[in-house]
Amino acid sequence: MTIDFQSFNHLLDNRFSCRGFIDKKVSKNELREIVQTAQKVPSWCNAQPWQLTLVEGKKLDTLRNKLWEAAKEQLHKPDIPFPSSYEGVYKERRRECGFQLYDAVGIKKGDREASFIQTLKNYCFFDAPHIVIITTPKALGTYGVLDCGAFITAFTIAATAKGISTIPQAAPAGLAPILREYLLLDEERDFVCVISFGYSDDNHPANQFRTGRAEFEDVLEIL
Ligand SMILES: Cc1cc2nc3c(=O)[nH]c(=O)nc-3n(C[C@H](O)[C@H](O)[C@H](O)COP(=O)(O)O)c2cc1C
Repeated sequence: MTIDFQSFNHLLDNRFSCRGFIDKKVSKNELREIVQTAQKVPSWCNAQPWQLTLVEGKKLDTLRNKLWEAAKEQLHKPDIPFPSSYEGVYKERRRECGFQLYDAVGIKKGDREASFIQTLKNYCFFDAPHIVIITTPKALGTYGVLDCGAFITAFTIAATAKGISTIPQAAPAGLAPILREYLLLDEERDFVCVISFGYSDDNHPANQFRTGRAEFEDVLEIL
């Protein structure tokens, strides 16, 4: 059991959000194994509300172009409202990981144009060869989204175990109406996020940093 814990911890140490991919495809068999493993997470009533839509190849390239143009126009309308504000420690953590990314790719503080271009790369899915769009039934509300979160995390860890890199992305969910129209996504389902995946470009500047985590004492309150 100790060995299992160490292996799991090692996997989590190796997972990171990848923002640069090489031009190499993930096979359907590997994807099937990742999804079937991630499906083992718990969900309320075992509802397993996640549904995945795989987009790749020419269809993905067209989608990148459509979203890039829409994002430049700032036509955002997510199904699930984005956080209204990040305050206190959440604001600090958000700033810190943002600055880590900007430092890694050489964007100077205050360079709004370069920051905006970096943000737009979300809509090209950082050139990943594949994406899966995760949706949940509207009727299951917040708990459906929660169950999807568990699935998303497990997907990223299972992929790591196979040497495949991932990044969950909420940014494209801001352009849900465009994705829904182009991909004919179900009106009764909310768009949660995308997972972009493929093989990491280990030399890509955006992949040269790792985020930190809060201290144990900051997350556990003992009464
Ligand atoms: C639900 C969710 C949505 C995210 N959306 C984005 C996104 O739109 N763009 C992005 O660059 N990173 C996104 N991320 C990645 C986070 O920034 C990243 O997980 C966090 O900074 C911790 O870094 P790590 O994943 O490398 O450990 C998202 C992560 C999660 C779990």
